[in-house]
Amino acid sequence: MNSFTYHNPVKVVFGLGTLKQAGEEAAKLGKRALVVSYGDASVSGTLAKLKELLDAAGVVSQEFLEVTPNPPIEMVARGVDAAKAFGADLVVGVGGGSAMDAAKAIAAGVLYTHGDLWNMVYASHSNVTAQPPEAALPLLLIPTLPATGSEMNMCSVVSSTTRGQKSYIWADCLFAKTAILDPELTYSLPPFQTACGAVDAISHVLEIYINGQDESDLLHAWQLALMRTIVENLPKALANPSDPHARTELMWCATCGLNGWGSPGDAWTPMHQVGHVLTSRHGINHGSSLAIVMPAWMTYHKALKPARYAQFAVKAMGICPHGKTDAELADAGIAAFRDFIKASGGPTTLGEKGVTEADIPGIVEGVRTVSFNADGVLASNPPVTAEALAEILKLAL
Ligand code: NZQ
Ligand code: ZN
Repeated sequence: MNSFTYHNPVKVVFGLGTLKQAGEEAAKLGKRALVVSYGDASVSGTLAKLKELLDAAGVVSQEFLEVTPNPPIEMVARGVDAAKAFGADLVVGVGGGSAMDAAKAIAAGVLYTHGDLWNMVYASHSNVTAQPPEAALPLLLIPTLPATGSEMNMCSVVSSTTRGQKSYIWADCLFAKTAILDPELTYSLPPFQTACGAVDAISHVLEIYINGQDESDLLHAWQLALMRTIVENLPKALANPSDPHARTELMWCATCGLNGWGSPGDAWTPMHQVGHVLTSRHGINHGSSLAIVMPAWMTYHKALKPARYAQFAVKAMGICPHGKTDAELADAGIAAFRDFIKASGGPTTLGEKGVTEADIPGIVEGVRTVSFNADGVLASNPPVTAEALAEILKLAL
């Protein structure tokens, strides 16, 4: 196993019904809370309960309900203004990755001293222009959609509508002080969002499993078990949205999938960078973008690590290894992953989203602009060149 330094300071309160602890946890962090969430009905019940809990705990709150998916930096700026006008000393994010990431960016934006908020974002190919935030208001995060792991990591993904870009802010100050993970809050999720969240969580681990350390028994076993748990529990949650066991498993898997446990040390998520461009250029939501590019990327690279792919097939996708070579197992595992996505209602081709071969150069250019490193490739193991990316996208057509 490689050497690494690991740090994660997030206090996690986990379990069915734990939303009721939101008031007392918020009161430990501040007295005036800006509650950041979506403006429509999807989480309104949760927001109403939260307001009662904050009131009872003596925390004055104001709602900022302007979050939209792939949170635009312009909306974040309005949130910063709202937080300042209200005199917030705490930010509470309620929702999926978009709401939590908006809350994080707002909490940091209030104290940001390097000009334009977009300066916080790692969004140029050499990554030298970002001025990550150094401080943020305390954050309490309450996920309602298990997917991104934002609740327990130091990342916030934001978009710029004017620049047509989507990328990430990465800073220690973006760790929440506390995250309340109540699986009951996910019972209301529609099947599509449930499936997209599950594919996103699998992809976080799968990208790292394929890209990451070659020599680690524990990490590989852990990554495979996490993916298998999602594969087994997504169908149960789709069949019965209020299944407490399935919802609980999915929630903890999503959190653990991107809190660093599976990727101490070097880890790359190249297909996430491609997914961000599919979102910003073609409006494909995050989970769907990964559902489309992950199997194509795996197909392109499978011959380089046949044993790794074979293990994925057997231990994550449940393929019987009897009588099959590693190469056959690799094919079977990728096919099973595609079938799993299809059965969950997700797209597996660019064509389903109206993207054609003529769009590929623009997508490659979008990835190059935002995410290629100083060596002119997308960091990955092996690195993805522009030519390879174009081939991967063709496989996804
Ligand atoms: O718009 P409505 O109808 O309210 O629907 C909401 C929301 O728009 C719905 N929803 C959320 N919780 C619900 C619910 N509906 C019913 N019941 C509930 N309990 O879900 C819609 C999508 O929400 P969103 O927050 O956009 O979804 P997700 O959690 O997939 O987050 C995606 C965002 O997170 C970023 C993505 O790029 C994208 O911007 N990511 C953040 C990461 C991080 N911070 O570490 C890493 C990820 O890889 C990812 O990039
Ligand atoms: Zn993701």
